[in-house]
Amino acid sequence: MTVLITGGAGFIGSHCCVTFLEAGHDIVVLDNLSNANSVSLNRVSAITGRKVAFEAADIRDQARLEAVLDQYGCSAVVHFAGLKAVGESTKDPLAYYDNNVVGTQRLLSAMAKCGVRQMIFSSSATVYGEPKYLPLTEDHPTSAVNPYGRTKLMIEDMLRDIAASDPSWRFGILRYFNPVGAHDSGLIGENPLGIPNNLMPFITQVADGRRAELSVFGKDYETRDGTGIRDYIHVTDLVEGHLRAHEVLASGAAPSNCFAVNLGTGTGYSVLEMVRAFERASNKEIRYSFAPRRDGDVAECFAHTAMAEKLLNWKAERDLDAMCRDTWNWVCKNPRGYETTAA
Ligand code: NAD
Ligand code: UFG
Repeated sequence: MTVLITGGAGFIGSHCCVTFLEAGHDIVVLDNLSNANSVSLNRVSAITGRKVAFEAADIRDQARLEAVLDQYGCSAVVHFAGLKAVGESTKDPLAYYDNNVVGTQRLLSAMAKCGVRQMIFSSSATVYGEPKYLPLTEDHPTSAVNPYGRTKLMIEDMLRDIAASDPSWRFGILRYFNPVGAHDSGLIGENPLGIPNNLMPFITQVADGRRAELSVFGKDYETRDGTGIRDYIHVTDLVEGHLRAHEVLASGAAPSNCFAVNLGTGTGYSVLEMVRAFERASNKEIRYSFAPRRDGDVAECFAHTAMAEKLLNWKAERDLDAMCRDTWNWVCKNPRGYETTAA
C-alpha cells in the first residue's frame, strides 16, 4: 500500500513526504524537477531515517505513470505536481493548461488503468475569486481571474465529473490558503528560483540582505492598516491536513466520494503585520516602501475552518511566530537554498 506523491520534491510535497513517512506510510515520489532539487528528498530521508523512492518523470508521461503505479503497488495518490506562478500563467497559459490540466488528465487515466482510485488534489483559495463574504466557506461561488486559477477550477470540475460517473473513485480536494514556514529541523523549506512572487520568500530575502527592500503592494485597501490581508498557514499544519484527508478517504468515512475542504487557519494577517512578525523572529529590520496595488489581488482572504475540523478532525496549530521562526531557521541554515549546501 504505497502512496504516489507527485511533485514530492517541491516545497509542500517534501513536507508531505516527511509527514506520511513518519505516519508509517510507504511512498514513492514522482517529480520532473522543473521547480525542485532532488536534494530535498535526501533531506526528507535525513529527517525520517527512511529512504525515499524517487522517479524522475513527468506527469504527462502516461506510460511511465502506469509503470510506476504498478511497480510500487500504489493504492492512492497525493497530487502536488504542477506550475503555480500566477503572473507566468498569464504570459504562457498553454504551459499551464498542458502541465496542470493535461498532466492531471493523464495521471487520472493512468490511475484508472491501474485500478488506483484515490487522490488528494492541491487546489487553492484562488478558486473563490473576489470574496463575496468572509470567512470563505467551501460553498462560496467559484470563479477564476487568471489561467493558473482556471487550471485549478478545471481540475476540480474534472474530479467532480469522474466521481459522479463512478462511486469507486475517492477524491479529496484541498483548497490551500497561503502556505509558509518550513520543517522545524531547518532541513527542508521553500526554495524559490529567481525573484520571489510571494510575500514570505520576498521578506526573507530582504532580511538576509539579498534584496534591498520589500514593495508593499497597495496601502489603501479597506483593511485595518490599508494593506492586503491573507490567511497564512504553516506548511507542517497543511501537510498534516493531507494525512488526515488521506486517512478519511482510505477509511471510507467521507460523507461523499468527492469533497472540497479549506486548509487555512481562519485568521488573516496584513502585509505590515507579517513584516513586524518577521522582524521579531529574525531580529532584522525589514525595509519596505509602498507600491501600487498588484493586478488581480483581493483586499482580504481568509478561510472558514469548520468543515476541515468536522470532516478531517484537523485544525492548524502553529501560530504566526512559529511560521516566521521556522522560515528564518531554514533560510539561515540554507542561505542559497539546496543549491550550495551539502546533501
Ligand atoms: P513547488 O513548485 O515547490 O512544487 C511543485 C512540484 O511539482 C515541483 O517539485 C515541480 O518540479 C513538480 N512538477 C511541476 N510540473 C511537473 C510535471 N509536469 N511533472 C512532474 N512534476 C512536476 O510548489 P508548491 O508550493 O509545493 O505547490 C504544490 C502544489 O500546491 C501545486 O499544485 C500548487 O499549485 C498548489 N498550491 C500551492 C500554493 C502555494 O502558495 N505554495 C497555494 C495553493 C496551491
Ligand atoms: N505582497 C506584497 N509584496 C510582495 C508580494 C506580496 O505586498 O512582494 C502582498 C500581496 O499584495 C498580498 C500578500 O502580500 O496582499 C500575499 O501575497 P502572495 O503573493 O504571497 O500570496 P497571494 O495571496 O497573492 O497568492 C497565494 C499564491 C496563489 C494562491 C493564493 C491562494 O501565490 O497561487 O495564495 O492560495 F492561489
